[in-house]
Amino acid sequence: MATIILVGSQWGDEGKGKVIDIYTEYADAVIRFQGGANAGHTIVIGDQTIILHQIPSGILHPDKLCIIGNGMVLNLETLVDEIDDLHRNGYFPDPSQLLISEEVHLVLPYHRLIDVGKEEQAGAKKIGTTGRGIGPAYEDKVSRKGIRFVDLFDEKVLREKLESNLAEKNPYLVSRLQQPPCDANEIFDAFRGLGERLKPHMANISVVLDRLVKEGKQVLFEGAQGALLDVDHGTYPYVTSSNTVAGAVCAGCGIGPTMIDGVVGVVKAYSTRVGEGPFPTEQLNETGTKLRDRGKEYGATTGRPRRCGWIDIVALKHAMRINGFTSLALTKLDVLSGIETVKIACAYKVNGREIDEFPANSGELASCEPVYEEMPGWDQDISAIRDYDALPPSAKNYIDRLQELLEVEFILVSVGYRRDETIVLENPFA
Ligand code: GDP
Ligand code: IMO
Ligand code: MG
Repeated sequence: MATIILVGSQWGDEGKGKVIDIYTEYADAVIRFQGGANAGHTIVIGDQTIILHQIPSGILHPDKLCIIGNGMVLNLETLVDEIDDLHRNGYFPDPSQLLISEEVHLVLPYHRLIDVGKEEQAGAKKIGTTGRGIGPAYEDKVSRKGIRFVDLFDEKVLREKLESNLAEKNPYLVSRLQQPPCDANEIFDAFRGLGERLKPHMANISVVLDRLVKEGKQVLFEGAQGALLDVDHGTYPYVTSSNTVAGAVCAGCGIGPTMIDGVVGVVKAYSTRVGEGPFPTEQLNETGTKLRDRGKEYGATTGRPRRCGWIDIVALKHAMRINGFTSLALTKLDVLSGIETVKIACAYKVNGREIDEFPANSGELASCEPVYEEMPGWDQDISAIRDYDALPPSAKNYIDRLQELLEVEFILVSVGYRRDETIVLENPFA
């Protein structure tokens, strides 16, 4: 196989960054295709923790090409910080390692102000966004008002777009959202400067990808967020503003569906969610606290505590179907160590009926009661185990049961947050 997509199967934060970093070993290029700095992908090597928001998680491997696809919404101000951070930590020595799509839409300062302002105004009805301006940036893209990376190099276009956007947005920001207005000249100067600094990275990435595939190179597409945050198939309206599923790769990079060979779904051994919205298996009790403490479940982007609960097969089967997973990677199995009985939600009960399909209606989903299957847990710390057969029998039974229910195999089991705390069962490109 030459092209593999790796995506989150739950509500994000499944450990995609860690798995991408490991799979980059087998790949020639790693590409982000949607989302933006709402993502926070963590990689831990020894005592060093790197959190990537927009740069693909393959960047720590010096010889691998990393690409920011057109389907993302890119914040250039924080991209520069991310690059500087990598340099400070001794990574990314060669600028030619990073390419940025000329077509990618930019997150402007007014997008962030609108995001934050709308959330403040919504009060109890807020979505719980990351406040990174993602929704407003995608709104502008779809309504054909967006500013793209390539626009930074055409002074006339950039000025016109900024002026017409701000004529509309400043009154909205000030009178409706009680936020400060933005100044077109200030943004023009700042973004022209950012454009000049980042211009060496600009490329037609569809052409680059086509060449890589024709040369037989191995290409890894890095998902952000997760299936249940997808704007079409997630827990709408408590979702992000883009398609997070594997199918988004094609439009988000300029590659045809016939070029995709496999889709790996990353599955956390339990469930978490940041922000608002229904979460049937959430544990607002000691179990939830235990999972949060042991799994260090605090947002990599906003630091918010993540809501925690049991694994949910109804939701995962939905994720399987909408993504077409060909294999799975299981993460954070170590976090379940020491839990006497582990639970798997296999169906929901709603209005006296048992269902096994994920409801489209968020209100209905919120009133679903999970029907659990229980399994004996295991006591041992498993983070030093590198041989699958050495896992405790109950841990293997848990994995077997998940495989049986999901009808797809795990090809990686992660037993700790460090790069080496991993059992790689199969090369995803094999
Ligand atoms: P992503 O957004 O999917 O890349 O995931 P995040 O980085 O936001 O969150 C995953 C968190 O779990 C990070 O802090 C990782 O370092 C950590 N992590 C990843 N895999 C494992 C694992 O197998 N065990 C433990 N204990 N932590 C893990
Ligand atoms: P990674 O790639 C977890 C959530 C937010 C909020 C909703 C909308 O690290 O898995 P947005 O800012 O996108 O408009 O927020 O989506 N969200 C994430 N949750 N992991 C992420 O990314 C997320 N990106 C967005 O918390 O509920
Ligand atoms: Mg994350």
